[in-house]
Amino acid sequence: MSEPCNVVVLISGSGSNLQALIDQQEASSPSRIRAVISNRGDAYGLQRAQQAGIETRVLEHGHFADRAAFDAALMEAIDAHAPGLVVLAGFMRILTPAFVRHYEGRLLNIHPSLLPRYKGLDTHRRVLEAGDAEHGCSVHFVTEELDGGPVVVQATVAVEPADDVERLAQRIHAAEHRIYPLAVRWFGEGRLRLQDGRAMLDGQPLPETGFPLRF
Ligand code: GAR
Repeated sequence: MSEPCNVVVLISGSGSNLQALIDQQEASSPSRIRAVISNRGDAYGLQRAQQAGIETRVLEHGHFADRAAFDAALMEAIDAHAPGLVVLAGFMRILTPAFVRHYEGRLLNIHPSLLPRYKGLDTHRRVLEAGDAEHGCSVHFVTEELDGGPVVVQATVAVEPADDVERLAQRIHAAEHRIYPLAVRWFGEGRLRLQDGRAMLDGQPLPETGFPLRF
């Protein structure tokens, strides 16, 4: 069997997506989470990692002179684990172009919307205010455009009449916990690649909005 793909996961908060990745790894996975790094010492995801026996590290962004200095330290911490893949799982920091370029083709993010719609924050509220019939979440390769890189997999979730932000967010989270492990598995199996700015699965370009799933 070939060597597992080393994964480093970056978080800022609860880490429920991290938990979904840990659960998949414990079941069976072609990748291994070698470290979890947070820019906040109080991120609950750090406890999840520790419970799973995964190394953790905190780099408080406020302790660095500027974004470039923080990102340089972050790259050093990540590269100590020789990662084949870096996974942003609720990592709420804008990354410098130097960081993004350094991990080009091996940097994934999850975003709670049907990209390219609703980039940025507060997506559930914005979807409800717009009266949309559908919402969703997307895993994408990270490029220098914020929330703008090629989409790998996208789950669509129907908005229900009784939905408020919390109720809708819960269903989006549940969908995230299915699509992120799937994308990471594909990557670890060598099936998913970024090539000439396109997300490719099994050598074929994925649709602009990624592999479509509906929950
Ligand atoms: C997730 O909903 C993820 O999509 C979102 O943060 C949450 C993290 O939850 N990410 C972004 O909004 C990135 N722009 P978690 O800490 O429980 O995984």
